[in-house]
This record gives sequence, C-alpha cells and structure tokens, in this order.
Amino acid sequence: MIGVRNGARKRARLVALGAEVPERIVTNEDMAKMVDTSDEWIYSRTGIKERRFVAEDEAASDLAVRAGIKILAEAEMDPLEVDVLIVPTASPDHIFPATATLVANRIGAHRAAAFDILAGCTGFIYGLAQGTALIESGLAGNVLVLGAEALSKITDQTDRSTCILFGDAAAGAMLVAAPEDEVTGFLGFELGADGSGGQDLVVPAGGSRMPAKDGPYEAALSCIQMNGREVFKFATRVMVESCTKLLEALEMHVDEIDLLVAHQANQRIIDHAISRLGIPPEKVFNNLERYGNTSSASIPLAMLEAREAGMLSPGDMTLLVGFGAGLTWGSTVMRYEPT
Ligand code: ACO
Repeated sequence: MIGVRNGARKRARLVALGAEVPERIVTNEDMAKMVDTSDEWIYSRTGIKERRFVAEDEAASDLAVRAGIKILAEAEMDPLEVDVLIVPTASPDHIFPATATLVANRIGAHRAAAFDILAGCTGFIYGLAQGTALIESGLAGNVLVLGAEALSKITDQTDRSTCILFGDAAAGAMLVAAPEDEVTGFLGFELGADGSGGQDLVVPAGGSRMPAKDGPYEAALSCIQMNGREVFKFATRVMVESCTKLLEALEMHVDEIDLLVAHQANQRIIDHAISRLGIPPEKVFNNLERYGNTSSASIPLAMLEAREAGMLSPGDMTLLVGFGAGLTWGSTVMRYEPT
C-alpha cells in the first residue's frame, strides 16, 4: 500500500465479519478419554462443552485464508483493494515470516502491507485499534483484521489444566474508511499491558530465551503454561476496569450499550464482570460453550454469531472487551454500521 495523509477526515467503519472453524469437534467426553477430567468439572468451571481442533496438517494460516475469503465476499471487495492485513495470533505458523504475509499471498491481497500482532487474546482489540488508527490518519482505506489460532498445536494435550480450555478458529472484520459525517464507528479504545504477569501465561520455549535449537525440550515447554488462578483474578479485574474507564472517558452510561461481546475464555469470568458492570445477561452474547477459548478469534467469532442470533443489528452500540497473555487487556465501543 501507499498511504499519503490528506485533509479529508475519515472514520473506520466495520463493514463485514467472517469466520472459519475446523471440522473436528472435541467434546468434554472426548477430553475425559485423554486426561483425568469430566464434563461436569469442565462445564461447571468454564462453561465449555466442546471445542474445534485443526487437522494434523493444518496451521493457523489455513483457517485464516478461508475466513478471509468469506470476509472479502461479504464486503464485496476484491483482495487487491485491501491496504493492510493485520493478523492477531498467539499461535502463528512460524516465529517469522508473519502469518499475515502468508495469508495475504494466498487470498490474493498482493497490494497489502501485512503483519501479525502478538497480544494474546487481546490481539483482536489491539488489531481494531491499529486498523482504526491507520484509516483515521488517512494512511489506509481498507484494513482486514483477522484473528487466527491453531492453539491445539501449542497446547499440551496431557495437561488437564490447560488442554480443556483452548480451541482453534479464525475470525475477523473488514474496516473501511468512511466520511466522518456519515458514521460513528469506533468511539474509543482502552488498551493496556502488564508484563509483570507475563509468566502467568507463557509458551516458554521456541523463542530467543529458550531457543528450539538448544533442545530437545520436553514437549510441555513448547506449550501454553498457565497460572489459572492468577489469570482468573487478573481477567475479572481488568474486564471491569477497562470497560468502566472507557465508558467514563466517553461519558457514556452502561445503559447505552446494546451488546457486550467479551473474549470467550470462561463463563464465570464473564458472569462476574457483567454483574459488576451492571450489564444484563440478555445484552451479552457468548458461544464459548461450543468453541472454548479461541484467543484472538473469539471476539469476532462471537460477533458473527451474535449477528446470526439477531443480537447485533445495524445501529447497535457495541462494547467489545478482551484480556490475555502479556498480560494484556483492551476494550472498545463501536456503533455497528455495516452499510
Ligand atoms: N479436570 C479435573 N480437575 C482438574 C482439571 C480438569 N480439567 N484441571 C485442574 N483440575 C484440578 C486441579 O488439579 C486442582 O486439584 P487439587 O485441588 O487436588 O490440586 C483442582 O482441580 C482445582 O484447580 P484450580 O486450578 O484451582 O481450578 P479453578 O477452579 O481455578 O479452575 C481454571 C481452573 C478453569 C483454569 C480457572 O483457573 C480459569 O479459568 N482461569 C482463567 C484461565 C483463562 O481464562 N485463560 C485464558 C486467558 S486468555 C489467553 O491469552 C490465552
């Protein structure tokens, strides 16, 4: 892309959503055959019933390509019109090249700048902020933000404390530049990071701290390791704090929110946060029961299914909030104005 700042004031408008999930369904009963657990334990602690796993020969980019093609179709856009492709992911195909470059090539977005965002499950919110900034500065016209995860590939399937939580998916949104007098778009973002909790959610090996070439390591070191209780406390705190700070900064009352879509990690975390925020359950859409935690794909996957369920309609004021590895968190308020 070539971006030249110009005088026209633009707003980022979210015009299309799309998602792809793998065919293979892994139920809690299947999990109980792999590790010492039960449907009752998993469902009561997390709200998850089943999740999807990619095939052995698939990686995050394979799901992202299929999701990206669907988003382009809904946006009625040629791939060559995409200026920037942002792929938030915690399970990229490789450390480099960026998964975004591989996806851009395969969907035909040959004009696009392409890069990944490594912000754990907050990646989609960070990606929306980046896309909005590129559009509203006048540097880009069309930005595809496409969360892509093959978390089953970096999860120790013998560790019952993590393997029951995560699933695979790709999902995202197309943002386009619109005249500022026509759309509200993204009203604001609250984003944060606290690396002091970095070790609470970490894949220890494979980077420059513990290089793969110095292995072989026990497989678990190349997988997600999590201090579940600390992450739980962190998540419940930041979800409430981030949304509260953002609504205050926007001088909005929580009653003005039509729909909340939160990162789909744990039903108990979401229930706790919405009760503290004063958002009634009927304004909250969840689908983690069927997909588990799909990290940076979870928010757009839930937005898409919220729309299919009639809970996300044009004009709706929507609050999105995420949290995850880093530790990171983020929220945004957006009016959904697809056309
Ligand atoms: N089945 C049965 N028992 C289990 C399982 C399991 N799958 N997993 C753990 N247990 C056992 C533990 O061994 C422990 O047994 P013990 O008391 O004999 O030692 C007991 O259950 C309680 O373990 P806790 O870890 O205290 O269980 P808790 O109630 O905290 O629930 C959970 C664990 C569900 C992981 C919870 O801590 C949680 O959801 N944390 C947040 C996780 C999260 O959201 N992570 C994603 C962040 S986003 C991202 O960026 C990836």
